[in-house]
Amino acid sequence: MFSGQAWRLERFGPPEESVELRQMTWAEPSPGQVLVRVRAAGAGYPDVMMTAGRFPLLGNPPFGLGEEAAGEVVAAPAGSRFAVGERVTGITAFLEGWGGYAEYAYLREESTMRVPAGMTDEEAAGFPIAFRTAYAGLVERAPVEAGQTLLVLGAAGSSGGAALQLGKALGATVIAVAGSQEKLDLCTRFGADHPINHRTEDLPSRIADLTGGRGADVVFDPVGGDTASAALRGIARNGRIVLIGLASGRPVALDAMDLLLRNYSAVGVLATPVSPEAEAAAWGRLAELAGDRRISVPLGRVYDFAEVPRMIAEQSAPGAGKSVVRLP
Ligand SMILES: NC(=O)c1ccc[n+]([C@@H]2O[C@H](COP(=O)([O-])OP(=O)(O)OC[C@H]3O[C@@H](n4cnc5c(N)ncnc54)[C@H](OP(=O)(O)O)[C@@H]3O)[C@@H](O)[C@H]2O)c1
Repeated sequence: MFSGQAWRLERFGPPEESVELRQMTWAEPSPGQVLVRVRAAGAGYPDVMMTAGRFPLLGNPPFGLGEEAAGEVVAAPAGSRFAVGERVTGITAFLEGWGGYAEYAYLREESTMRVPAGMTDEEAAGFPIAFRTAYAGLVERAPVEAGQTLLVLGAAGSSGGAALQLGKALGATVIAVAGSQEKLDLCTRFGADHPINHRTEDLPSRIADLTGGRGADVVFDPVGGDTASAALRGIARNGRIVLIGLASGRPVALDAMDLLLRNYSAVGVLATPVSPEAEAAAWGRLAELAGDRRISVPLGRVYDFAEVPRMIAEQSAPGAGKSVVRLP
């Protein structure tokens, strides 16, 4: 039995009024899980959705928050791939109510990897959800081929920042769309070929200029709303829009006749495990790319453990890069 503190959602509402620190105990992990002493945990827009009661996969509070965490294994069931003391990062048991903004966290074993040498705790904590989501979108569901043009919305954010780098690693030309010069500078540092500011530039005409009128082969969309609608006007024939999320507050509006007349597809992505083989392949490939430093977490603000409620509130207007919580 392990005991420590955990941030939990006690009721839906503004994070400062609804997220509270609780003393908890963690029993030995069940088969398929490992228990880690958390060093850092990754944050993102889903935290906003969870506290507001708008996250589709969770019921009513109380439950623990934090979808991903990095730390050392402190307990593993017999037969586990992982041993006590190993440094790992992975997706928490948040869907069962146990999150990563805590001193200890259960990680789903099949969605956990050893931290590659050279990766810091903060980078490791920000890796799993974003890169597993990008992999699901760009490798499993709408494979991007070398030489194709990938347009990434929210490209200085969590899943967008991962998609930008995975797209480059797959050999695509990447158009990165973000909402400030600071965010576009970050995209350029992480390999974007063509940064576009959706607040000051006309997205469809810029895409047309950059692609010689062809359009983008794949649009990766964690943002939705008007920005995604504008990007969709620049999609190529036979193109695919990869539906990831709705950080703008609403999903992109799709029009079946438009899909038909302009010959493109919409591909929904939910990055949850489909089979042990697929998970092993995905995490193996991601660990290899991270070990070679071909993909890395575009770290943004690092918050203290005490700042979790404020951190969640700030995910409604996030700065550049991936937000992470650091434990003492
Ligand atoms: N399908 C899946 O399996 C899966 C997995 C992970 C996440 N998601 C979903 O993907 C979405 C994005 O998550 P994320 O963690 O990538 O988010 P994030 O890191 O916060 O990035 C979202 C980006 O969206 C843009 N944005 C536009 N309007 C916004 C608003 N009102 N509030 C916040 N951001 C806004 C921002 O970019 P600019 O300022 O540059 O416009 C921001 O960088 C969420 O809906 C999440 O649930 C889905």
